Amino acid sequence: MEVLLSTAEIAARVRAIGSEISEDYSGKSIVLIGVLKGAAIFLADLARAIEIDNTFDFVAVSSYGRAKVTSGAVKLIKDIDDSIEGRHVILVEDILDTGLTLSYLRAMMLQHGPASLKIATLLDKPERRLAPIEADYVGFPIPNRFVIGYGMDYAERYRGVADIRIFPSERAEHGAR
Ligand code: IMP
Repeated sequence: MEVLLSTAEIAARVRAIGSEISEDYSGKSIVLIGVLKGAAIFLADLARAIEIDNTFDFVAVSSYGRAKVTSGAVKLIKDIDDSIEGRHVILVEDILDTGLTLSYLRAMMLQHGPASLKIATLLDKPERRLAPIEADYVGFPIPNRFVIGYGMDYAERYRGVADIRIFPSERAEHGAR
């Protein structure tokens, strides 16, 4: 599989985002909320690249089968463990694709009354957007190709691949989780 982003490129960009976040939130403490499972590895590296006080938590979502594409219906499978009321929150995602998942999660998080809410995504596929949402921190904008590795899967496989690779399109049903 063709390598899209090497481990060195990913590490450098994650460090840069960590520094940016550390500056933006200087003197504050933040909560990183990762979206399982894809964002787990990005969050693990990002948390260690952030020099200010941070804690982390995870949520898990699933789409209602194929309905996600048309209706954007997303179901919460795992909620946050601790209250985020009055906290500075950053939602951490692997890929911002159609934007339906993050639109749902952002609306849900805002109901909990955080002091602030931003979005960090490692990859952004702007061409595929259906919902009006942009991330505050973007690792890499990428073309409309299906990718695996660094936490991202095809049918649960390849999450442990260290770099990010393009999954052959003849094998990928686009948007497959
Ligand atoms: P969306 O923005 O609601 O369309 O959903 C984004 C989610 O779809 C990501 O968190 C991934 O789980 C999945 N996804 C989208 N594109 C890819 C890809 O190229 N590889 C692996 N997963 C993907």
